[in-house]
Amino acid sequence: MHLYKLLSRRILIGVGIMGNVFEEVVKEYRLFKNRDVLSPHYLPSELPFREEEIRELSQKIAPVLSGRKPENVFIYGKTGTGKTAVTKKVLSDLNDYARSHNIPAMGIYVNGMRESEHSVLLKLVRHLDPSRDLIGYSTSAVYDKLLELIDGRGLRLVVALDEIDMIKRLRDLIYRLNRANDELERGSISIIGISNNPTFKEQLDARTRSTLCEVELVFPPYNAEQLRIILEQRAQEAFKEGAVAPEAISLAAALAAKHSGDARYALQLLLRAGDIAEEEGAPRVEREHVERARQLVEEEIVYEMVASLPEQHRAVLMALASLKLGKKGVSSFGGEKVVTSGLLYSYYRKVAEDHVLTPVSDRQFREYLNELETYGIISVKTAGKGFRGNTRIVDLNVDPAKLLAVVRRSL
Ligand SMILES: Nc1ncnc2c1ncn2[C@@H]1O[C@H](COP(=O)(O)OP(=O)(O)O)[C@@H](O)[C@H]1O
Ligand SMILES: [Mg+2]
Repeated sequence: MHLYKLLSRRILIGVGIMGNVFEEVVKEYRLFKNRDVLSPHYLPSELPFREEEIRELSQKIAPVLSGRKPENVFIYGKTGTGKTAVTKKVLSDLNDYARSHNIPAMGIYVNGMRESEHSVLLKLVRHLDPSRDLIGYSTSAVYDKLLELIDGRGLRLVVALDEIDMIKRLRDLIYRLNRANDELERGSISIIGISNNPTFKEQLDARTRSTLCEVELVFPPYNAEQLRIILEQRAQEAFKEGAVAPEAISLAAALAAKHSGDARYALQLLLRAGDIAEEEGAPRVEREHVERARQLVEEEIVYEMVASLPEQHRAVLMALASLKLGKKGVSSFGGEKVVTSGLLYSYYRKVAEDHVLTPVSDRQFREYLNELETYGIISVKTAGKGFRGNTRIVDLNVDPAKLLAVVRRSL
């Protein structure tokens, strides 16, 4: 963030009182042609190495175009493997096709972050009829409206629920959306569920799982060579000609390949390397800029991830960061401050209560620790000598003060 501040400060100093300020601001980018192309929200027109996935997904949902209900699809794969981009592309093509052929079929994309059963149903109704104001309606009433709208048009609906693990009362939502197919006289609802978490499916109860996972698509991570080609393509749109050294792109691709084949990480590296090179007035983005961008991007990704976690997970992290900062009685062992899982659990309970959350059971708490460890934000190990039985030590893999600041803002 401070990079932008530096940039804008320089812009202001540079402008003085002459001329149109925007001319100077535009001139300020010596390397970027269109920086937005590297933003995670940009949807590229081409998705190399995902032709197969695009074909499979479109084949699975194609029945909506001939008046039949497709099976529900569950898509999973690590972060940055193109799940969101592919789904958006397929739904957008579906909508274009349905519109131009006058077929009552429609795809709606919903990101599950901070959504609940109620808010998702509300979004679907609003999408189908923006004039309808359903504030204050019960969930059942919103659901009835949704059925009415679908039935009225005989609509075949495909609802993509991205980051599906974040949705509150997901079980009820899936149950309801699926039951709609028994209640509707005309039309149908199919679901595309998307998750970054490979173990999410196992956490679902048997009924939700069998409903949601009628068809499964797994997105594999990209390798270094694929990432290099993806980056090259994007760099051509984002940077002026010759503004990026090929070795800089190769390095970003290699680093992202090690970072579980994450295309988003690769793009972010290139974006920040570009910012750093712009900031220091370098004539070209070099390897060295990518190397320096690395630390920055790793922090950004951790913090974005933390902000997107469910409240309970954030409460656990808040408790751990506070303990690490020595705010509460941390046991000291051999001169080193350590946090045992027992201490963390009791402090977590307090943090949860302070934030009007109901503390979860010890068993569920251990499940949270496993998940946070999977995300790479904490490490858990057995304490060993000097500790009772199977005491576990929980460590934080990021700076506790910075983490605390992020969690506080979002809890
Ligand atoms: N095959 C690809 N070609 C070009 N860009 C891609 C490709 N796959 C992913 N991306 C880009 O990488 C970023 C992450 O992709 P995204 O679809 O959000 O991944 P996921 O949803 O699996 O986490 C996005 O900016 C996306 O545009
Ligand atoms: Mg995604």
